[in-house]
Amino acid sequence: MKIDNFVWTDELSVGVNEMDDQHKVLVDKINKLVVDLNDDSPNVYGDFQDLAGFVVKHFEDEEAFMEKSGYPGLDTHKVIHKQLLEKVGSFDGSIKDGSVDKFALMNFLKMWLRSHIMGIDMKYGEHANKGAA
Ligand SMILES: [Fe+2]
Ligand SMILES: [Fe+2]
Repeated sequence: MKIDNFVWTDELSVGVNEMDDQHKVLVDKINKLVVDLNDDSPNVYGDFQDLAGFVVKHFEDEEAFMEKSGYPGLDTHKVIHKQLLEKVGSFDGSIKDGSVDKFALMNFLKMWLRSHIMGIDMKYGEHANKGAA
């Protein structure tokens, strides 16, 4: 059974171009991982490290954006990011030794991207765009 690609749709837009662009990069990196997982490629661990590194950068940039725009939910959002990074990190060992449950990994990544962007990230976008015509 093959894992499906993650497809970007406009409903994932948070209304902040810089963050939308980073979310699209995340989608691309997840899809590279999907392709290599489906092929049992030796690049899987490298893909995962690349993705995890970008997630760290994205969270830092997002937190800096929220701080700059005076978003009141910054602290809660930071806690959620920390939990997500721990969850991402929990896959590291099993990906490295090849025992990872591919479907559990991809379900987590896709679920996180959709529900975090649409449920949590969307709120800083609404706050930043509030009052903007
Ligand atoms: Fe976030
Ligand atoms: Fe985000």
